[in-house]
Amino acid sequence: MGDRSLLVVVLAAGEGTRMASRLPKVLHRIAGRTMLHHVLAATRAAGATRTAVVVGPDREDVAAEALAQVPDARIFVQRERLGTAHAVLAARDALADGADDVLVLYADTPLVRPETLARLRAPLANGAAVAVLGFRPADPTGYGRLLTDGPALIAIREEKDASPAERAVDFCNAGLMALAGDRALGLLERIGNANAKGEYYLTDAVEIARADGVSAVAEETGAEEVAGVNSRLQLAEAEAILQDRLRRAAMAGGATLVAPETVFFSADTRLGRDVIIEPNVVFGPGVSVGDDVVIHAFCHLEGAELASGVTIGPFARLRPGTTLAKDVRIGNFVEVKASQVEEGAKINHLSYVGDARVGAHSNLGAGTVTCNYDGFFKHRTEIGEGAFVGVHSALVAPVTIGKGAFIGTGSVITSNVPDDALAVARSRQQVKEGWATAYRELKGRAKKAKEA
Ligand code: UD1
Ligand code: CA
Repeated sequence: MGDRSLLVVVLAAGEGTRMASRLPKVLHRIAGRTMLHHVLAATRAAGATRTAVVVGPDREDVAAEALAQVPDARIFVQRERLGTAHAVLAARDALADGADDVLVLYADTPLVRPETLARLRAPLANGAAVAVLGFRPADPTGYGRLLTDGPALIAIREEKDASPAERAVDFCNAGLMALAGDRALGLLERIGNANAKGEYYLTDAVEIARADGVSAVAEETGAEEVAGVNSRLQLAEAEAILQDRLRRAAMAGGATLVAPETVFFSADTRLGRDVIIEPNVVFGPGVSVGDDVVIHAFCHLEGAELASGVTIGPFARLRPGTTLAKDVRIGNFVEVKASQVEEGAKINHLSYVGDARVGAHSNLGAGTVTCNYDGFFKHRTEIGEGAFVGVHSALVAPVTIGKGAFIGTGSVITSNVPDDALAVARSRQQVKEGWATAYRELKGRAKKAKEA
């Protein structure tokens, strides 16, 4: 299969009316990626050489997502929804350019794996004209039935066109199809719409191919992999299936998940070896974790890079643009955003660090807050190597704390602090001996006078 060119046609014209959403269905996300992105990623991994995406009218948003993932994809618009064959023919120009193999996928069937696409495509190299992916759902209602004779696929019968005997067949069409590139256009152009729905059925390609004397086959796969998403409930079901896969992959790759069912990954989460992830941790998109990292319970990470030996949490939040160098410690109730925390630095309790560089081996005390926003603009805070910031300090950006500097507890730092200096920015403590005794006597007399 290695050298065979592969044109992928992704049907992304789904309306998503049952999603009750402003967003087109295929832009809904599972594991942090749109469904369309999942399908395109699988086809890329399966060796797609060219990609065509068929979108509905005025769906610039869907086209933009397709191009973001596959910059050289060709976008085609299906103006009217006249059936799955009609949708594939919207990409006629891409088909006419020719390819050894053509794969048709639905963007609302996001869980299909690259290895399954490779299996679906394999019969083409052995002379089959059409290969379809079959599965056995718990309830076959609504699916096209695969009518087989031994290994040969004879026809696909849509539910509405099926006889009672055909409806009793439980082997169903997942919707994904592989077509021999030199025959695809010829088959598609002969498909008519004389059926119960009055639609151009892609599935009719099977019978037409057989009438031409070429073979069609069905490859079976598990129902989970070809689950289509038509509702928010099915979106959540697909999420659960994908999370299960991601958790297994994380553990197989050398991460310990103490309670796997409580950890949520993004499709692009990268984990090193001997990572320990405690319960209730959420990975948003764009997180990479080095070796020997410990993530304590209840952390939320997004767009963050953690070098080896880092420990975070419990209850830490890492937001996009955060990099934590080797052996950094981020403790409980600490939020870090768009900041570089250098090797061995510690931010252990109740802090907000945003738009900052925190130098190596520095220590930010409990309640350190970078005041990075003035209501209009964001400003940077620079903290030098080995600095020590006392508890409950506000660092009003833009501001620089020098290397090795000390900040007194409770300071509001508004101007730069030189290297190795001490800055204290709080009012001095006053002590009045005996004041409390005198106060109690005064107030005690006043109270008695009022009661009398
Ligand atoms: C289709 C298959 C059926 C299969 C089922 C699996 C046909 C005729 N039937 O039926 O055998 O069991 O999928 O889910 O192919 N689409 C367009 N333009 C159209 C029509 C459809 O882009 O004009 C896209 C849809 O957005 C969707 C996909 O094609 O992603 C399938 O369309 P749908 O109408 O859901 O087909 P089914 O009737 O479910
Ligand atoms: Ca469907």
